[in-house]
Amino acid sequence: MSYINLSENLVPLTISKLMQMKLEGQKITSLTAYDASFAALFDRVGIEIILVGDSLGNVIQGHTSTIPVTIRDMAYHTECVARSVRRAFIIGDLPFASYTSVAQAVQSSTALMQAGAQMVKMEGGSHLQEMIKVLTDHGIPVCGHLGLTPQSVNTLGGFKVQGKTADAAKKILEDALALEAAGAQLLVLEAIPSSLGAQITEALTIPTIGIGAGPDCSGQVLVMHDALGAFPGRKPKFVKDFLATTGTIEKAIALYIEEVKKGAFPAPEHCFISN
Ligand code: KIV
Repeated sequence: MSYINLSENLVPLTISKLMQMKLEGQKITSLTAYDASFAALFDRVGIEIILVGDSLGNVIQGHTSTIPVTIRDMAYHTECVARSVRRAFIIGDLPFASYTSVAQAVQSSTALMQAGAQMVKMEGGSHLQEMIKVLTDHGIPVCGHLGLTPQSVNTLGGFKVQGKTADAAKKILEDALALEAAGAQLLVLEAIPSSLGAQITEALTIPTIGIGAGPDCSGQVLVMHDALGAFPGRKPKFVKDFLATTGTIEKAIALYIEEVKKGAFPAPEHCFISN
């Protein structure tokens, strides 16, 4: 089970390559990682995007949400990951309240880029347009994040599936188009109906990376602890434990890559439907 073409193995992935993969209908694989050892393993097995997610608040720090995570935490873990990755594209997550103004977003993003990220991710819709334009104008590529945005858990009233009604779906689609128009080059879609994931992926030029957003996104991402059955907390519907049937971490990641590439993951039992 090897998905890496060894001759291409050490050619670092770029946003242009990820864009080309979308155009060619090749699925993009992504996992979170927070340290050098797991990042090196995921990179070696062939994961294309490593997201240093603020989910580290849950899976590393033991919090019940991502809200306590600081930019210092994110920069530290981004540095750990970046030291060991040779091929994968690294995204650093801007944590809660680290981009409440354009100036603060530039400062926070600079910290992640200087720690080794090649792109920063931010949660939210059209209100981020000006910020995204300024960041991209200054050489800081941006990944958006729509649907269930965990940093807004208190305004959303819990970790709930988003975009289930026609109006809510329309708003997420409009936000996606606004983020792309502002210059975002990648978009994470979390916990939305599969039909909406497909519609947004079709409407955008940039790749979409789904987590609970159906099989038609340009790629898939999972929190590494979920993909390895290692998180003791509540298990969302979109999660699959790839270690359960494989026995080693390398084989589990290779199976994840294989299933995403051939469209077998996510399966219907990992997906949401509209109202
Ligand atoms: O922080 C994170 O791990 C994320 C993923 C859930 C996409 O944002």
